[in-house]
Amino acid sequence: MAFSTITNLDVAAHQKKSAELKARLHSSESTTYVTGPTGNGNGEVVLLLGGTGYIGRAVVPELVKRGYKPVVLARSESAKGEAEFEGADVVIGDPTRLGDVQRAVTQTSPQVVISLLSGRRPNDAEECRQVDHEAIGNGIKAAVEGEVKQFIHISDFGAYRPELIPQVYKLQVEGELMGRHHGDLDWTIIRPTAYYPYLSMTFGDVKNGEKYRIFDHGEYSVVNPIAREDLAEFIVNQVLDPHAIGRILPVGGPWTPDNTVTLKDAGQMMFDVLGKPAEFDVVTMASWDKKIANLTRAGKLYKKLAPVAFYLEAAKYWSVVDHVAPAYGTRTLRGFMEKLKDREFPTGSFRERMKSGTNVMPTDI
Ligand SMILES: NC(=O)c1ccc[n+]([C@@H]2O[C@H](COP(=O)([O-])OP(=O)(O)OC[C@H]3O[C@@H](n4cnc5c(N)ncnc54)[C@H](OP(=O)(O)O)[C@@H]3O)[C@@H](O)[C@H]2O)c1
Repeated sequence: MAFSTITNLDVAAHQKKSAELKARLHSSESTTYVTGPTGNGNGEVVLLLGGTGYIGRAVVPELVKRGYKPVVLARSESAKGEAEFEGADVVIGDPTRLGDVQRAVTQTSPQVVISLLSGRRPNDAEECRQVDHEAIGNGIKAAVEGEVKQFIHISDFGAYRPELIPQVYKLQVEGELMGRHHGDLDWTIIRPTAYYPYLSMTFGDVKNGEKYRIFDHGEYSVVNPIAREDLAEFIVNQVLDPHAIGRILPVGGPWTPDNTVTLKDAGQMMFDVLGKPAEFDVVTMASWDKKIANLTRAGKLYKKLAPVAFYLEAAKYWSVVDHVAPAYGTRTLRGFMEKLKDREFPTGSFRERMKSGTNVMPTDI
């Protein structure tokens, strides 16, 4: 089991700690970063690996707006006609194949490579290895060979306490950039907290009258998620900025009550935005721990059960580990939920959503 069991004594202590942390954040100003676009390009080519994902679809238009020439390495031809890639070149290839990435670099001569790659099924250990480690490694190798000026690795704030499979690979890539490739390649590592769709995953269920699930009091941890448009602006600010070279940049959204939340706050926000009375489905962490332990044991005998244990561990991880980073941007989680209010999108159990991967929210908000 990846996590230690939380005792009854800890339960109250965690709630108190989260309340104090939120109070401190809400009464302080995060001045690490200054929000706003800095730096414009002059047609420099920026190659995106993972540019067809949720964040990539905001980074590409931001690069175009700021005068760069984005090139998206896409697995599917259909990317060529997509509105978000207007002004970008789309090269077809699979980043898990080194030759495809090398060809993209040779054909387009980028000055910068940005990796936003991430396996779409975080519970699939082999897919994570291929995408979160090998494919990014292909990008680094091709970037060194192509003498690109900067490699920007979008990592994960959770790398500070890596307990889930993709986080371990993200951290491994960070180490490889800092160690093995030091001197060969100038790098920038960005560690974003969480994205709004993750915290709004059950919005559709709540809209349909279901309860919102919390562990015990639902206040084990605090997070300041970041909007993808704000993150895109932040990423593009680092492009070819000499001050960004060799730096690890943790980043989240504004430290305001509308954006710095416990998971219970996120649920309360859904009820408020939808104008419904709050209804919580309280599951004890002790019973969840038992389920994880049983499934982990059974997973050793029946391989098919191992990914199910992962779902449960991931749910616990996100409920108990703080993700608070210096603030950038102006958008808030509440603002995002306001936009979701009148939308239709897939719903279903947490397990079904994990099975179908990360593509569960509309990508035009
Ligand atoms: N989700 C969060 O809350 C969170 C928090 C912190 C950091 N991050 C990190 O932020 C970055 C961007 O996240 P995101 O939400 O934009 O990711 P995403 O939407 O899941 O996009 C993942 C990208 O990786 C590609 N990819 C996935 N599986 C692949 C495979 N088997 N072979 C080749 N390519 C594959 C996808 O290509 P296709 O479009 O062809 O599938 C897509 O371009 C990632 O590095 C992620 O780990 C995420």
